[in-house]
Amino acid sequence: MELLTYKSSNIEEIKQLFTNVFSDSEGQAEGVVIGDLTYDIMTSTDAQDLYGFVVTENEQIIGSIFFTRLTFQNGVNAFLLSPVAIHTSYQGKGIGQKLINFSINHLKENGVKVVFTYGDPAFYSKVGFNLITEKIAKAPLKLTQPEGWLGQSLVSDKIEPIVGTSYCVEAFNNPEIW
Ligand SMILES: CC(C)(COP(=O)(O)OP(=O)(O)OC[C@H]1O[C@@H](n2cnc3c(N)ncnc32)[C@H](O)[C@@H]1OP(=O)(O)O)[C@@H](O)C(=O)NCCC(=O)NCCS
Repeated sequence: MELLTYKSSNIEEIKQLFTNVFSDSEGQAEGVVIGDLTYDIMTSTDAQDLYGFVVTENEQIIGSIFFTRLTFQNGVNAFLLSPVAIHTSYQGKGIGQKLINFSINHLKENGVKVVFTYGDPAFYSKVGFNLITEKIAKAPLKLTQPEGWLGQSLVSDKIEPIVGTSYCVEAFNNPEIW
């Protein structure tokens, strides 16, 4: 198993991985939505606003994760983790946690101060995320499930409140995915 930064030659394979994994877990329609979202992230985001990683096994991509910039008025270096997927037949073996820890460490070494995500607290609490409210940091769009708004500081034990509005990259600027 290898953990690597993704390459532009991986784009189609990564899109297919997200489509397949989310079709298996959430149904085909959601699989297509997340596959398309991931494709948009990879093709429409400026390099300085994007980190993406893959896990490979025998040169096949079996997992992938993306982080895109969240811009706050105070200029804090912040990213949003979304989406992440591990090939269905490789789930539950610790690979997802390894991929998240590896990639968050990479962001930290590159000066990122805080990471947010929007998902299941039962899973993300295993890799350092805590529930937060929008008093700590505003989400860029209206949250349909505020109980899934999560964050972690990469520089201290807890996130200092960040004043003001946040802005996501274009691929996430869609109320239907929040
Ligand atoms: C969520 C996902 C990335 C986790 O990767 P993984 O390799 O399967 O997870 P790991 O083996 O590292 O960790 C599994 C642990 O997390 C828990 N877990 C995994 N998925 C979970 C979920 N959806 N909800 C709650 N807990 C979850 C397991 O109970 C397990 O805990 P344990 O080790 O204490 O038994 C992967 O299962 C996946 O791709 N799922 C479908 C797509 C998805 O939901 N993506 C995340 C939203 S963007």
